[in-house]
Amino acid sequence: MRTLLFGKDGQLGREFIPHLNVFSEVLAVGRNECDLSCEENIQALIEQFRPDLIINASAYTAVDQAEKDANTALQINALAPTAMAKSAQRLNSAMVHYSTDYVFDGLKQGAYEELDSCNPLSVYGSTKLQGEHGVSANCVRHLIFRTSWVFSAHGSNFLKTILKLAATKEDLRVIDDQWGAPTSTELIVRVSLQALGMNAVIKNKEPPGDQTIQPMPQWGIFNLVAGGETNWHAYAQYVVSLAQELGMGDKFLLDATKINPIPSKDYPQLAPRPLNSRLSTKKIRKAFNLNISDWREGVQAELQKIKIQG
Ligand SMILES: NC(=O)c1ccc[n+]([C@@H]2O[C@H](COP(=O)([O-])OP(=O)(O)OC[C@H]3O[C@@H](n4cnc5c(N)ncnc54)[C@H](OP(=O)(O)O)[C@@H]3O)[C@@H](O)[C@H]2O)c1
Repeated sequence: MRTLLFGKDGQLGREFIPHLNVFSEVLAVGRNECDLSCEENIQALIEQFRPDLIINASAYTAVDQAEKDANTALQINALAPTAMAKSAQRLNSAMVHYSTDYVFDGLKQGAYEELDSCNPLSVYGSTKLQGEHGVSANCVRHLIFRTSWVFSAHGSNFLKTILKLAATKEDLRVIDDQWGAPTSTELIVRVSLQALGMNAVIKNKEPPGDQTIQPMPQWGIFNLVAGGETNWHAYAQYVVSLAQELGMGDKFLLDATKINPIPSKDYPQLAPRPLNSRLSTKKIRKAFNLNISDWREGVQAELQKIKIQG
């Protein structure tokens, strides 16, 4: 099973690295090995390595910057994955790709299902949606996982920003009218590998369950987010309180009561965000026989890792 991972230095890519030993031959590349702004680079690398599976963990994720640099966002979020998908199909390979809650406008009441109509509010969301289409239209055996509010002990993310701010600020204003589920890279990688195992793409791993009943491979688009829901303000309060409980708050100037809620309209950002980022996980749980843990469990696990890292 030859597997090619794009985006090895990002939050999600880094989480994949220690798990890639489930595949027999692996090539993990970042910007230095393959600049995704050139489709010829991508195709040449794929033709040369001839993977059975491509995992694309790369993306242009600077949501506000994308408003000013739409061409680069289009290249990395749409044209690059489309080129990967075309090459994957030529080799009859499978492809895993990641997308975002920002493909929706957030106006729906309740959680978004996979087939709800998309209406991105930002360049980032729009280019990610074009990337979804490029992958699904060009590679038959594709898994597209839409996730949200991604965090991990490594890389840049909201959780780590709040920890840094807690050490330098005595009070903070955080938006309380955008709702979603903070999702750890650990959960995303675990579920991705389980889905690939059940689709028998990981050939050296038996699919779980009764071996006499082989599940039908399930390709397509799936929401992949942690259980539960919160808003950025409650999330920030949870992070600060838990970090203090875990003994990580020695240098904090901030406590959770000093984190004040504000509406999005009082925190102008270049790219508008959806107010409702809730994604239903009904489809993915049924397809791959999953239990999905609450977002707080992910935060607890990543905070423990940050504590150990020191
Ligand atoms: N972060 C979130 O909150 C969030 C929310 C919803 C969905 N998602 C989706 O989840 C997936 C993983 O996101 P993430 O948080 O892991 O992203 P990330 O940490 O920003 O990592 C993205 C990676 O893509 C690489 N990349 C960007 N431009 C490139 C180029 N021209 N050539 C080669 N590599 C390039 C970056 O390389 P450098 O390290 O060199 O910059 C980086 O390593 C993405 O599909 C993202 O859209 C993320």
